Formats: sequence, structure tokens, C-alpha cells
Amino acid sequence: MPNFIIFGAPGAGKGTQAQKLAEAFNLTNFSTGAMLREEVNSQSLIGQEVKHIISQGDLVSDNIVNQIVKDKIKENGTNAGFIFDGYPRTLSQAENLDTILDNNDLPMVFNLEVSQEELVKRLLLRSKESGRNDDEEKVIQNRLIVYNQQTKPLLDFYKAKNRLIEINGEDTVENIYLQIEKQIKLIMQNKEKTA
Ligand code: AP5
Ligand code: MG
Repeated sequence: MPNFIIFGAPGAGKGTQAQKLAEAFNLTNFSTGAMLREEVNSQSLIGQEVKHIISQGDLVSDNIVNQIVKDKIKENGTNAGFIFDGYPRTLSQAENLDTILDNNDLPMVFNLEVSQEELVKRLLLRSKESGRNDDEEKVIQNRLIVYNQQTKPLLDFYKAKNRLIEINGEDTVENIYLQIEKQIKLIMQNKEKTA
């Protein structure tokens, strides 16, 4: 099964789209943010270690996240077909993912491009009901800085490998979904032809 990455800044709509796509294409939805929040809620050892980092909007260490990802992929099998949301976020994570997955199934990346103003607007709106303690103005600003410094450069990594597809993330949820759906269908058709 093919794998996909939904890429973008905090508030870009990664979770919204990944959930819809996972259901439609029977892919395993894989959000490292959601998994880390579960660890925090269950007060596991990892949860206790990462709680403060997440509440500040900084990145959890590559070691912890790469191990979580490795375990989850092992559990589901490398050919399950994953849709990654919020992973990878650093070069080390991107390289880790490519070594775990089969060479024929390296993920294509959909980048949801959204302006900073719109990102902040969406996250502040969501903060009223999300219950996420990183949805607070100061932390949101830090999440955006961290994204721009540590995660955004990955776009060059994937572009150089011809695995990047740019998506206008400022359309309606449905129109964005249709843009990605069209691309995934094409990728799946091409895979069938070459199989
Ligand atoms: P994570 O959970 O990944 O959060 P994030 O990247 O900050 O992104 P969000 O979940 O806030 O936004 P989203 O892009 O999913 O958008 P959504 O669909 O919700 O990470 C949280 C933290 O965990 C990190 O800061 C870090 O500490 C840690 N972490 C996670 N992964 C890690 C990793 N790999 N390495 C290290 N640390 C890691 O949409 C946002 C809002 O906008 C919603 O209210 C939604 O309804 C609305 N919306 C969505 N689409 C649209 C649209 N088209 N138009 C208008 N509104 C829209
Ligand atoms: Mg999310």
C-alpha cells in the first residue's frame, strides 16, 4: 500500500484532512501529536517526560518520536498504508521514516500551504474548545517559530526527491480534500500500472 504525509504548519489542517483521507482510502491514520497527547493523558513514563515540552510548543526529541513511530509501524506491518500527520518534523525523522518503510512505498508529501495570519486565526478559534494547552497565544507563536526553523526545511528534502505536492490550504475543507483525493487516485493508478 502507498504511504502519504500530510505536511504543514500548526493549524494548517493536517489532522482534518488526514482523518478524512484515512477513512476514504482505508489508510492507517498516524498522528504523532495525538499519540504523544495520549501518552501525556495516561501519565506513562514517556508522557511525563514530554508533557512540559508539548505545553511549551517545542519538539519532543527525535529519539522518543522515532521509537514510537518504529513500534507503531511494526505493529501494523510496513505494508499497511499509512497517512502521517505531524511526522516527520526534522531531517532525522524524515530519514528514519525512509529507512523503516519499503523502498517502493516511500511516502509522497502533500504540503498544505496556509498564511501565518490564517494559522493564528484558526488556532485561536480552536483554543476555545480544543482543551489543548498548547492552543494559547504565546505557545502558538512558539509552535510557528519552531515549525519555520526546524520543520519547514524538510520541504526542500522532499522536493529534491520529487516527492512534494503543493496544496492550497486556504480553500474550504472539502475543496482541499478534493485536491488531495485527485492526486492520491492518480498515484494509486500509476502504482497499479507499474506493479
Ligand atoms: P501536533 O498535534 O502535530 O500539532 P500541530 O502540528 O501544532 O498542528 P495542529 O494539530 O494544531 O493543527 P493541524 O495542522 O492538525 O490542523 P487541524 O486539522 O487541527 O503536535 C503537537 C505537539 O506535539 C508539537 O508541538 C510537539 O510538541 C509534539 N509533536 C508532535 N509530533 C511531533 C514530532 N513528529 N516530533 C516532535 N514533536 C512532536 O485544524 C486546525 C483548526 O483549523 C481546527 O479548528 C480545524 O477545524 C480548522 N480548519 C481545518 N481546516 C480548515 C480550513 N480549510 N478552513 C478553515 N478552518 C480549518
Ligand atoms: Mg493536528
